[in-house]
Amino acid sequence: MRLRRFFCLLAATLASALSAQDLPGLKVTFTAAGQSDVRTDRLLALYVPAGQAPTPFLPAGPFTAKWEGDLQSPMRGTFKLAVETSGQFKLSLNGQPLLDGAGIKTVQLNKGPNRLVAEIAGAAKGDTFARLSWASKDFPLEPVPPSILTHAADKDLDLAAQRREGRLLFAQMNCAACHADAARLPAKGSGMPEHGQNAPLLAELGTKFKAPVLADWIHAPHSIRPHSLMPKALTGPNSAQQAADLAAMLTQGATPKAGAIDLKLAPQGGELFANLGCIACHQRPDFEGKDAHDRVPMGHIADKWYPGSLVEYLQDPAKHYPATRMPHFRLEEEEATQLAAYLLLNSRQIKRQPIAGDAARGAALIVSAGCLNCHAGMPASTQPPLAKVLAAGDKGCLSADDKARATAPDFALEATQRAALKAFLATDLASLKQDTPAEYAERQIKNLNCVACHARDGAVSTWTKVDGEAKKLRDALPAQEHVEGEPVHDAPIPPLTWLGEKLRHDWMSKFIAGQIEYKPRPWLIARMPGFAHHADSLALGLNHQHGLPQKEADEPAGDAEKIANGEKLVGADGGFNCITCHAVGEQEATAVFEAPAINFAESAERLRKGYYHRWVLAPTRIDPDTKMPKYADPEGVTQLSEPYEGKGPDQFEAIRQYIKSVK
Ligand code: HEC
Ligand code: HEC
Ligand code: HEC
Ligand code: HEC
Ligand code: HEC
Repeated sequence: MRLRRFFCLLAATLASALSAQDLPGLKVTFTAAGQSDVRTDRLLALYVPAGQAPTPFLPAGPFTAKWEGDLQSPMRGTFKLAVETSGQFKLSLNGQPLLDGAGIKTVQLNKGPNRLVAEIAGAAKGDTFARLSWASKDFPLEPVPPSILTHAADKDLDLAAQRREGRLLFAQMNCAACHADAARLPAKGSGMPEHGQNAPLLAELGTKFKAPVLADWIHAPHSIRPHSLMPKALTGPNSAQQAADLAAMLTQGATPKAGAIDLKLAPQGGELFANLGCIACHQRPDFEGKDAHDRVPMGHIADKWYPGSLVEYLQDPAKHYPATRMPHFRLEEEEATQLAAYLLLNSRQIKRQPIAGDAARGAALIVSAGCLNCHAGMPASTQPPLAKVLAAGDKGCLSADDKARATAPDFALEATQRAALKAFLATDLASLKQDTPAEYAERQIKNLNCVACHARDGAVSTWTKVDGEAKKLRDALPAQEHVEGEPVHDAPIPPLTWLGEKLRHDWMSKFIAGQIEYKPRPWLIARMPGFAHHADSLALGLNHQHGLPQKEADEPAGDAEKIANGEKLVGADGGFNCITCHAVGEQEATAVFEAPAINFAESAERLRKGYYHRWVLAPTRIDPDTKMPKYADPEGVTQLSEPYEGKGPDQFEAIRQYIKSVK
């Protein structure tokens, strides 16, 4: 209970101590080859593999990194600070040198801000890394959490963030599809992953979409989906007719995918829309007005989709668009049908004025309008080359109004986005030729909206915020008795905060890709959807953000005596009785409905060693609400005096070895 109180105290002190100027994370300044770059990191942690650039804006080679900011201590008192590092690392606290190289030191922390400055020099050989941890008499060593690291607002950071935003827009909006420059830009498929990503394959459109909405989409995509990456490519007085011609061409000769669906399934679909978290990324189809959470609209679905193809799309949204932001839920056909029924029945009727299109005229346009530059990766030929764009300033696609834009496409850029693109275009663009996984992860967490479902660094998920809407959808069905053992909709989803420290890269990348067959938390109705295209680098970047390598050091084969001790320790007879909550392979948990937990047979391939020990020593330090008991006191001593003389870390290591041995 002491820990719980500590946590409440921590939250309360932070709320009162943080001033308006304190921003989350630390400022990090990188220098290499006489140039510098800055960014904000969540943690005092870094991992740069040998031979890689520390940020996309700097060359590979020798570098230094310097962290600056405040550690906001919840109380005055004695703490320990420790660093694990590849080498040349120095840290000072409140102006006093504290650590030089790897090590651990006892310090007095003031309540509130404590000035942190740390520096590392890239390792001459091998990978460069650093990770800062802390401990007190109340809790064992753990990484200094993102929630207590802050920095002051800073002009250089703002400019660097703007350059980064511009870089991402340039890549995602595919500027290079029309404004090519072989010397300045990376070849397709190399460099920054978002650069040169193909737009959806324009295939089977006539079997999926109704022609009038297709024409409206081509004419003005942002009127249907505000944040679409697709520009309004057709300009001039004739553009509505041209869009109809293109729609006619793209749907010519196709037979709509057959199959009416039973709209009576809509309430079940509505419940799924709430319980699977669609509602965290999408407006309800009957929603009207301005959405406070900026979710993707669904009001046009009945207008757009033939029912049979909608069911197919929901089951495999990446089929024609690998880079899509719509994730793969591995829906059963029945679930997809229910969801489709809900979307089709509840979307609004939109009045469209169909224009008859001419497919032959459309066929000529599809090349000249630049559609295939993005949609088929056709090389740019006709548009102004990049050198001219760089010299042009605010013109063409970067114009603020239609008149000045003239014949250039309209990306519906906001003023901040135009400024960001300009800031990026003022660089040498070399950053497109390389990337940094830690930054990729940060970009994609935003782009793919992981925080729709996951809490992170103390911020609650969108799903939590819109729970009122979800409840209404659930309540549309008659209430059902909860059957013990059936999954529930209101059990917590793991926060994203520590997953980069927790999970092994090989498991995490497969899991994010949707390629792990089992469900770690079968008691949840919610499921993690797959993001196959992005998973590998995203998982690696998460590990790097926590100062961890892709692969953990190889371990010697399990020690038979430890494994035997471990087996005894998880059991009821002379052990901690972990198996009341944790199943072990086929052997079910003995009192699972106390607090369901993950099957130990799955944990070995999931968990990193450091995190395992941190969790078992002090679970509430990671999740204050967890039902997993704490077995060791702050000195690491447990209630079981045997084996290992009651030393928690040794007992838990034996359990880990046992878990690793389970199939
Ligand atoms: C579909 C092709 C296409 C894409 C993609 C595209 N542009 Fe353009 N861009 C054009 C056309 C067409 C013009 C106008 C050419 C003219 O007026 O002769 C233009 C003009 C410009 C100009 C003015 C050039 C000048 O010489 O006046 C700038 C600047 C520009 N684009 C920037 C961008 C940026 C930044 C992006 C990415 C966000 C982008 N463009 C994406 C087709 C494209
Ligand atoms: C600058 C790149 C770019 C250009 C140029 C472009 N598109 Fe797109 N288009 C996209 C992207 C990206 C999407 C995916 C939707 C999104 O991001 O919202 C898309 C989506 C579409 C879709 C919906 C496909 C689906 O399966 O959902 C159609 C149809 C389409 N575009 C047709 C066209 C046509 C026709 C043109 C030429 C007039 C064109 N596009 C020009 C990038 C582009
Ligand atoms: C993490 C966010 C996220 C979640 C969760 C999500 N979607 Fe999507 N979805 C998107 C985005 C973004 C798009 C736009 C397409 C794109 O970017 O490629 C989209 C597109 C769609 C479309 C096509 C829209 C159109 O205009 O044709 C449908 C239908 C859809 N989602 C249904 C669902 C359903 C049903 C669920 C729940 C099972 C769901 N989505 C969950 C992000 C999400
Ligand atoms: C629609 C909601 C939803 C979205 C969007 C979502 N997740 Fe998840 N995620 C979940 C749920 C639910 C679980 C727990 C699944 C289980 O254990 O059965 C989970 C679990 C995870 C796990 C495993 C954690 C563990 O301890 O087992 C990782 C890693 C993860 N998500 C990463 C991501 C990333 C990265 C993104 C964005 C690319 C993302 N998630 C987007 C719902 C979501
Ligand atoms: C009262 C129930 C309960 C008992 C008893 C219990 N745990 Fe847990 N354990 C949990 C819960 C709940 C979680 C978190 C599940 C989640 O992430 O959603 C958990 C998670 C874990 C994890 C992380 C697993 C993973 O793959 O993410 C490990 C390791 C673990 N427990 C070890 C132990 C050990 C060792 C013992 C006995 C010394 C034990 N637990 C006893 C409830 C319990």
